Amino acid sequence: MKTFVSLTSLALMEALALAQTTIGFGPYFSLGPTKSWIREANTTLVLPTVPNPAVDRLALWPGMGTSDGDLIQAIAVATANPATECRGTTGQWCVFASTLESQQEAGTQSPQNAGAHLIIHYVYNDSTQKYDQAVSINGKVLSTLSTSSGNAQGWGTAVECQESACHGTVATHQYLDTTIVLNAADPTFGNTLALNEVSSSGLSTTDGGKTWVVKTIKVQQHTFNL
Ligand SMILES: *[C@@H]1O[C@H](CO)[C@@H](O)[C@H](O)[C@H]1NC(C)=O
Ligand SMILES: *[C@@H]1O[C@H](CO)[C@@H](O)[C@H](O)[C@H]1NC(C)=O
Repeated sequence: MKTFVSLTSLALMEALALAQTTIGFGPYFSLGPTKSWIREANTTLVLPTVPNPAVDRLALWPGMGTSDGDLIQAIAVATANPATECRGTTGQWCVFASTLESQQEAGTQSPQNAGAHLIIHYVYNDSTQKYDQAVSINGKVLSTLSTSSGNAQGWGTAVECQESACHGTVATHQYLDTTIVLNAADPTFGNTLALNEVSSSGLSTTDGGKTWVVKTIKVQQHTFNL
């Protein structure tokens, strides 16, 4: 499996450049780093249509960069051949929990259609000191993964292209009901928000900066031209 990198992970991008000819990032919603750390994050990614013609590979992910350099990133990927990737069919995404450590760790891959509401949940587990990921639809868990990753410092959404996806168009899509729970209140967390080709309904907190809610994150259509 090929790896997906974080926007800020320059060393990794250099390492990947050896293996891959092209990689790029499009629109993002980005929060962090927080002065505290993220205990829990929950969002619903509504899958758009896959690029047509098929491209290899386009990834959508909400991710959390962590204190030990990991990237917790459940992924929806569109590939030229969903059958070999996840036993999917043309037009489907392959969806899985994952963490980029020194290599990419991944949970079970599940084929999913455009329009699916993927609930992507990350939570710090005090007894194992790992982050537990779950990707689910309508209460049915599709993919899980638990990794020792330190403490999460930020949360953001990404549109990532590799190879032929880097001259394709990504449809507009949304993240709904995003909730981020910090270990302790950080009233300044909202000031770290950065947006690129994204509109959001705004951040709110009702407990002085411990719990942050974003009703809607709307990612604009984006055409890569790399
Ligand atoms: C995550 O979000 C979904 C959808 O809004 C909700 O049903 C679920 O209860 C949430 N879970 C947590 C732990 O916040
Ligand atoms: C923490 O992880 C353990 C081991 O996987 C699991 O049994 C337990 O349910 C988890 N705790 C919570 C609160 O989810």
